[in-house]
Amino acid sequence: MQEQSGFVIRPAKLRDVEQIFDLIRQHKDDLITRSVGDIIQNIDRFVVCESDGRVVGCAAWKILPEIGEPEKASVEIQSVAVSDGFRRKNIGSLIVDNILQRVCLFDPAQAIVLTFAPEFFRALGFREIPKTQVMHKLYMGCINCTKHANPFTCPEIAMAMDLRKKQ
Ligand SMILES: CC(C)(COP(=O)(O)OP(=O)(O)OC[C@H]1O[C@@H](n2cnc3c(N)ncnc32)[C@H](O)[C@@H]1OP(=O)(O)O)[C@@H](O)C(=O)NCCC(=O)NCCS
Repeated sequence: MQEQSGFVIRPAKLRDVEQIFDLIRQHKDDLITRSVGDIIQNIDRFVVCESDGRVVGCAAWKILPEIGEPEKASVEIQSVAVSDGFRRKNIGSLIVDNILQRVCLFDPAQAIVLTFAPEFFRALGFREIPKTQVMHKLYMGCINCTKHANPFTCPEIAMAMDLRKKQ
């Protein structure tokens, strides 16, 4: 648990589920919406920011499959959202940093993200990569996307951070 003035960054609890659901849904142009059932089943992979008893930020992670070379598996950062009135206070960065510290326990090769907010991830140390390097993510996440016909013409940007160099 990380305390800053006025807010705390902590692992999510089941009582946060509805607020996480609302926060992600408020950003449906930037994020893939998630059902309440999905959030419940993955609550142990969410980190939130709480301020005055309210969830004002969240993010989640998922380990992607890596056929044949499990030690090279990547972690995907998902569902990063900070409430409008709480932006540019470092909350998003603290949540993603907290997730990176957690996942480093498993020693994944890299963290990846597909995002419409490249400046935010660049400030955290992510760098742009060709989408062809995240085909597993494209197959799993983009296959059911109804916003864009083709992941290669979708404006989302693929980014990665080498986690083994970071340690
Ligand atoms: C992207 C988002 C999570 C950033 O959260 P945040 O708490 O405001 O970010 P931080 O305060 O930690 O920002 C850290 C740095 O990232 C960069 N950054 C953050 N938001 C930015 C923006 N809108 N434009 C340009 N740079 C930005 C800046 O360098 C910033 O440092 P600074 O404030 O000292 O200039 C938030 O704007 C958001 O919820 N957006 C809508 C959902 C979304 O796009 N999520 C990401 C999809 S994966």
